[in-house]
Amino acid sequence: MLLLANYEGRCGVPKAVEMLKARQNGLRAIIEGIKLVEENTDIHTVGQSSWPNILGELQLDAAVMDGNTRRSGAVGAIKGFKHPVEIAYELMERLPYEILVGEGAERFAREIEAVPNINETDASIKAWKKHLSQVLTDEQKKDFPNIRLLDVKSHAVDPEKLFDTTVYLSLDDEERISSATSTAGWAWKYPGRLGDSPIIGAGSYADSRYGACACTHTGEMTIRAGTARSVVLYLKMGFTIKDAVYQAARELGELQTGYLDEVTIHAINSLGEYFVLGVNSSEPIKYVVWNGSMDQPETKKAEKYMTY
Ligand code: GLY
Repeated sequence: MLLLANYEGRCGVPKAVEMLKARQNGLRAIIEGIKLVEENTDIHTVGQSSWPNILGELQLDAAVMDGNTRRSGAVGAIKGFKHPVEIAYELMERLPYEILVGEGAERFAREIEAVPNINETDASIKAWKKHLSQVLTDEQKKDFPNIRLLDVKSHAVDPEKLFDTTVYLSLDDEERISSATSTAGWAWKYPGRLGDSPIIGAGSYADSRYGACACTHTGEMTIRAGTARSVVLYLKMGFTIKDAVYQAARELGELQTGYLDEVTIHAINSLGEYFVLGVNSSEPIKYVVWNGSMDQPETKKAEKYMTY
């Protein structure tokens, strides 16, 4: 058994470990762990009280993948619900689709009686107002929100870019490998922007035969490189876990245009091995891991790789 989570998601790890130890389904274990991250108001990049988009709205993204069936469920830009990761799971269970976004995702959430929530808090609105006061011109302030948002030059400047997203990977007692993600995406993002967290193959991928991968930070890069799927494909081709992750990291380094920044790649394989690589990390990256031979989850430091 194995659980790997990014450090931002540490508050949900004990719950997920408890469920894995009780031999429960690994996908359900990581969903229950992530739900605790989504409702933690001290975390400003996942779930409620995250920093909102440029209009002050919290649009959340999440995905799950069951590596036995390779079925996935994802929601993007969903507003007004407490647990996007649970809605993603229900989508996988109840619909023939893999992803729903915006109003469609919200309608589905209402139909399944997902827990509604006002995710914007005093803290998130205060931070958003402060940001607007710094980036808008006097003219833009006068007309806001009826301005051309593309003229607001702040979309790629995320104060929480080092902490964004939570990702969990698990290998359970029945050798099922699962992945799950949840995020508010970039602070102050353009409305409707999706990162990699709801994009299976980019921000996460799981295949019980080989392994799983999930990424944090710059979704604009992992979408273009198909990073999570690439790592699992390299595992299928027989690469060691470290070589599989490094190969995908080199592909991120080959990107020359567009928005380029940091990415952290988290991976596990079917042998119960794990590896985390901080690509172009400006700060040390930590993660949390537990396996059947550890009494408690352990916090470790990721290896670092610079592509330039
Ligand atoms: N990695 C999260 C995002 O780009 O939204």
